[in-house]
Amino acid sequence: MTKDITVLAIETSCDETAAAVVRNGREVLSNIISSQIELHKVYGGVVPEIASRKHIEKINQVIDEALTTAGMSMDEIDAIGVTYGPGLVGALLVGVAEAKAISFATKKPLIGVHHIEGHVSANYIENKELEPPFLCLIVSGGHSHLVLVNDYGQYQIIGRTRDDAAGEAFDKVARAIGLGYPGGPKIDKLSLEGNKEAIAFPRANIEDAPYDFSFSGLKSAVLNYINSCEMKGIEINRADIAASFQEAVIDVLVTKTITAAKDYNMKRVAIAGGVAANNHLREAMIKACKKNDLAFYYPSPIFCTDNAAMIGTAAYYEFLKGTRSGYDLNAVPNLKIGER
Ligand code: KG4
Ligand code: ZN
Repeated sequence: MTKDITVLAIETSCDETAAAVVRNGREVLSNIISSQIELHKVYGGVVPEIASRKHIEKINQVIDEALTTAGMSMDEIDAIGVTYGPGLVGALLVGVAEAKAISFATKKPLIGVHHIEGHVSANYIENKELEPPFLCLIVSGGHSHLVLVNDYGQYQIIGRTRDDAAGEAFDKVARAIGLGYPGGPKIDKLSLEGNKEAIAFPRANIEDAPYDFSFSGLKSAVLNYINSCEMKGIEINRADIAASFQEAVIDVLVTKTITAAKDYNMKRVAIAGGVAANNHLREAMIKACKKNDLAFYYPSPIFCTDNAAMIGTAAYYEFLKGTRSGYDLNAVPNLKIGER
């Protein structure tokens, strides 16, 4: 019998201070998330300086809780995984410095993990049978990508956003209709009361780049619609705007994902990132994949938004490949997928 590999993972790339203990990549023994959302809400978005300070205050406590909940001592941990990019540099540095200090003090290997590769790996946690190759749609606050996961840790980007990320569009539209930060979950909820066919917002297609996205035109269309209603003295229906905007985003995401799966002959499709928690996107993907005879995988909402369990999963597969980071590991705010 092979020895179990248990990873202590740390994630501080944005506004969640998170630590988790993950065994053999797929068994989450603990997943502790200390969210700073309440602190940033009043500013309408994440304030980097506040995020870094809060991470410093919380990190030790969150790690202790992750170990206690898992019923593990540091001695029983085999490796330390940490997000080193992309993200807010000051926020990332807190996790990276902490992981390096633990690794140095305990002489356990250190593994730097790409945040977005972590999001993709979240799919392995609850879908025990999922293995590469598969196609993954990554939709978070900072990223929108269509990626072929050819093997563990091997990614081929086939599509990306030309401007705003999907989550960014959700957050900006939510702010325009007065829903506050973060906007995604609020639009998800309010859209239930609206008519998704009430307003025909544009679906952007990019010539010669069938898998690329663009959401800035859609965001402008929503803002123009609101302005024109105001000028005409018409009261806006926020639920209709939320539902129609969300439908435009989902329509594009689903159509391009299914097209890519067919073109690349992928039989398995997964989604990842904060926007993957969207109920309507999940339902639309389930339906479209069923219709096209594709197996569809998605993480529970808690593993879609930022968490450290997904970092532990990605770190485990890097560990198996022999990846080890040195004590010169640094935060890389604009780290690209597949880069080391
Ligand atoms: O992956 P994530 O937690 O952080 C990044 O790495 O960016 O994603 C956060 C984004 C935010 O833009 C948030 O509004 C969006 O994910 N989001 C959602 C939902 N939950 C979170 N968007 C749509 N529907 C949701 N239910
Ligand atoms: Zn994220």
